[in-house]
Amino acid sequence: MQPKLSSAIAGLLPAMLVAAAPAPQIQSLGENTGPVAGVTPPIPTVTAASGSLYGSTGLQGGVAPIPDTSDGTAVVKNVKEVPGQDADANLGLYLDFNSVDEPQPIRGAFGGSDAGPRTFEYEKLNPDLFAAPGTDSGAVPNAVWPLGLSHNRPGASGRAGWARQQNTAVLPAAKDMAGVDMKLEPHAYRELHWHTAGEWALMLKGCVRVAAINDNSQTFTDDLCEGDVWFFPAGVPHSIQAFENGAEFLLVFDQGDFDENGTFLITEMFARTPRSVLSKNFRAPVDAFKNLPNNQLYIFNGTPQPKDISKQNITGPNGSLTGPSGYTYHWSQQKAFETPGGSVKILDPTTFPIASTFSAALVTVQPGAMRELHWHTTSDEWDYFLQGSGRATLYKAPSSANTFDFTAGDVGYIPQADAHYIENTGTEDLIFLEVLQASHFSDISVAQWLALTPEQTIIDHLNISSDVIEAIPKEKTILKTGNVNLTEIVDTGKAY
Ligand SMILES: *[C@@H]1O[C@H](CO)[C@@H](O)[C@H](O)[C@H]1NC(C)=O
Ligand SMILES: *[C@@H]1O[C@H](CO)[C@@H](O)[C@H](O)[C@H]1NC(C)=O
Ligand SMILES: *[C@@H]1O[C@H](CO)[C@@H](O)[C@H](O)[C@H]1NC(C)=O
Ligand SMILES: *[C@@H]1O[C@H](CO)[C@@H](O)[C@H](O)[C@H]1NC(C)=O
Ligand SMILES: *[C@@H]1O[C@H](CO)[C@@H](O)[C@H](O)[C@H]1NC(C)=O
Repeated sequence: MQPKLSSAIAGLLPAMLVAAAPAPQIQSLGENTGPVAGVTPPIPTVTAASGSLYGSTGLQGGVAPIPDTSDGTAVVKNVKEVPGQDADANLGLYLDFNSVDEPQPIRGAFGGSDAGPRTFEYEKLNPDLFAAPGTDSGAVPNAVWPLGLSHNRPGASGRAGWARQQNTAVLPAAKDMAGVDMKLEPHAYRELHWHTAGEWALMLKGCVRVAAINDNSQTFTDDLCEGDVWFFPAGVPHSIQAFENGAEFLLVFDQGDFDENGTFLITEMFARTPRSVLSKNFRAPVDAFKNLPNNQLYIFNGTPQPKDISKQNITGPNGSLTGPSGYTYHWSQQKAFETPGGSVKILDPTTFPIASTFSAALVTVQPGAMRELHWHTTSDEWDYFLQGSGRATLYKAPSSANTFDFTAGDVGYIPQADAHYIENTGTEDLIFLEVLQASHFSDISVAQWLALTPEQTIIDHLNISSDVIEAIPKEKTILKTGNVNLTEIVDTGKAY
């Protein structure tokens, strides 16, 4: 592959200087050499069409001349393997393909080289799809969606911001939750709106002012910054405006097919209502509505809000929503629970009751460590990766398992009851958000299950020794530490 790659690059120069051949077809397929932009196009040498679009019927099998089968080759020379690649496939070590130019889908005694066509970046980002652990089996519905592959919808002219989303259109298995990543530039608004889904949000960057009213004539206003959370129940109209440094936030909806482009918008509602009805409803002349915007505003630049929130904190006739009925939780101020391997903090209706079906955990996993093997009893799990890289194997009943890789900006989705772990495969802390549709955050820990089951029962099922079983803690540990040195794991047969 290397010779092909370099000859493809080298091939550009003669093509530009001498005579450009028509675009090659199958013969030189290999690595995509990168963006086309910026490359001086070759001077066209074909000035008139010639040839035929179809070949002769004499090329049909049985009639056509037989090729010399020693001519073609799919052999890849100079295959370079990465650490762990020749180890037993069932060890399933994480393969970091970044140390080679051309990753190959080989693991232990399995697989073979890949002669292309291909784009190495995908394979380097997804080594467990490309060279799956030997323990993977069958097919599990796709569980990862990189938001970097989502169509990004810009807001109004003036560089006001943008939003991109993940829903069942791109990740069909994600039936119960959908996500949106939204950017508001300084002082921009997400237009006043409401929707049929409940909206849970995590502030990723910057600060916003949010405001809403409910159906009991009660109001709510608050300011939030990075790490804080809001929740707006289905149907509750709300406003979001960024402060002077802009804001980016992550929205999680309790409908898998939620479409951020399909929300109810204040501008559209006004534009779609007969003007006489507006006049009657708002007790104002029809003329008062002559300057309404013709089109939706969606995301647009706004007038800077007063810093002093009391200037915009309007109290409804039935008071304000505060404390347990408030729509926000200042999660950034909650100290995480520290445990060997990382830290965890949980936000569920115990302390944030208004979001009665949203239970979330923000998990930090140190290099080599992992979120322990577990599953959730009643809910699917929607994940968002905020930093680092990791992987998860989803075991699906009765005998399928696929391993998926995740990096910052990816959404993960793990259906209810599928057993899984999330392992840090990178060199920095892995930080991710787990969101459940549940009244409290909980899981079944596989380690705890073993520790709390009669020992002989486990031995009869799994044939592991009693000293291993007796050493398993009876408490959930949430995280497990691990060794990052693959050589040592292979040599010592111990991954921790
Ligand atoms: C005021 O709010 C309470 C709930 O806190 C509700 O039960 C009551 O109906 C509300 N009153 C009005 C007039 O909306
Ligand atoms: C808004 O006003 C209400 C009183 O009506 C008060 O309880 C609440 O704390 C105020 N909110 C903020 C963010 O200051
Ligand atoms: C979103 O809605 C707008 C306005 O109706 C439309 O112009 C646009 O094409 C839609 N975009 C997507 C991605 O559906
Ligand atoms: C358990 O494993 C040992 C060691 O391989 C083997 O001798 C024994 O037969 C196994 N027991 C069962 C019940 O499979
Ligand atoms: C990994 O472990 C091997 C064997 O103990 C050791 O020789 C090597 O230096 C270690 N590598 C790193 C990066 O620590």
